[in-house]
Amino acid sequence: MDEHGAEEPPGAAPGGAGERHVPVLLDRIVSLFDPALADRDAVLVDATLGAGGHSAALLSQHSRLTLVGVDRDESALRLARTRLAPYADRTHFVHAVFDALPEVLDDLGYDAVQGVLFDLGVSSMQLDEDERGFSYSRDAPLDMRMDPTTGPTAADVLNTYAPGDLIRVLHDYGEERAARRIVEAVVRARRRAPLRTSAELVALLESAIPAAARRTGGNPAKRTFQALRVEVNGELDAVTTAVPDAVRALAVGGRVVVMSYQSLEDRIVKRVLAEHSRSKAPPDMPVVRPEDEPELRLLTRGAEKADDDEIAANPRAASVRLRAAERVREAAA
Ligand SMILES: C[S@@+](CC[C@H](N)C(=O)[O-])C[C@H]1O[C@@H](n2cnc3c(N)ncnc32)[C@H](O)[C@@H]1O
Repeated sequence: MDEHGAEEPPGAAPGGAGERHVPVLLDRIVSLFDPALADRDAVLVDATLGAGGHSAALLSQHSRLTLVGVDRDESALRLARTRLAPYADRTHFVHAVFDALPEVLDDLGYDAVQGVLFDLGVSSMQLDEDERGFSYSRDAPLDMRMDPTTGPTAADVLNTYAPGDLIRVLHDYGEERAARRIVEAVVRARRRAPLRTSAELVALLESAIPAAARRTGGNPAKRTFQALRVEVNGELDAVTTAVPDAVRALAVGGRVVVMSYQSLEDRIVKRVLAEHSRSKAPPDMPVVRPEDEPELRLLTRGAEKADDDEIAANPRAASVRLRAAERVREAAA
C-alpha cells in the first residue's frame, strides 16, 4: 500500500519510472508460461522488455529460468536493468528490433527456447516522455520513434511522403475514413512550412475532420497519431516477421504469448497462430502424415481481454487482446 492507501501494482518497480507502467494481464501471463518453465532449465525471450514488469514476475517465479530481454528503446533497457538487477546473472539485455529474433538467439547460442512473450506497442513511459511526441494531448516535436537513434520521424513522414502514400498510411494503419481530406490539408500546410509539432498537427486535424466524424470515435487526432506511429516504427512488418520466427524458435512444449493493442496487429497474430495450429493434410486424406500435423495447439479461445477491475485500475488494459499457443511437435525442417 502507498500513503494514499492504494495497492502497489503487481510487478511495479518501487521508486522507479517503471512504476508508471503496470504490466497488463500479469497473472494470466505467469500462469500461461508456467507449464513450459516450471522445474526445469528454461529460456524465455521477452521480445518487448519495456520496464521488465512481466519478466520480473517470471524470473522470480522460476529460479532456473534464463531471460533474453529485447527492446529497441535504450531507455527502456536502462530501466529494466535496474528492475531486474537481482536476476542479472541469468538475464541477457539486447538492444534490437524483435524482427531480428533469429539472429539474437543465434548470437547467444540458443537453438530453441521454452517461451516467447510479446507485449506490443508503446509503454506508459514512452507515452509520458513528452519530448518523444507519441501523445496528441501534449505539444512536442513530431518524433514517435521507439528507438530515437534511428529512422525517419513522424515529421519526416508527414513532410516528405507522396500524398497517395500518406493516404494509405492513415487509411490502413489508422482506419481513418477522412484520410484523403486530412492529407489534402497536410499538403496545403507543408507547402507553406513543414509540420513540426504535435500541436500543429492536432490543430490541422481539428479543422480537416468533418464535425460529424468528430462527434463519434473519441479524439479526432487518435487515429492519425496511431497510423503515424505504426508507420514510423514499421510495427506491422515487425509483427508479421517476428511471430512466425518466435513459433519456429519454440522447443516442443514451449509457448508463445502475444498481447496486441490494436486490431491490425491482433489480426496478424490470429492468422499466424491459426495457420500453425491446423493440419496441412488435404481433407480427404485417410492418414495424416506427421509433417502435416499441426505444430501448435491454441491455448486461448479467440482473443482474451482484461476484466473490468483491471481496466479500471490500468486503462492500458482496455484494448488488450491476448493470444497464446504451445508447440506440440518439432518444427518442419
Ligand atoms: C508495452 S511495452 C512492454 C512492457 C513490459 N511488458 C513490462 O511489463 O514492463 C512495449 C515495449 O516494447 C518495445 N517494442 C515495441 N516494438 C518493438 C520492436 N519491434 N522491437 C523491439 N522492441 C519493441 C517498446 O520500446 C516498449 O518498451
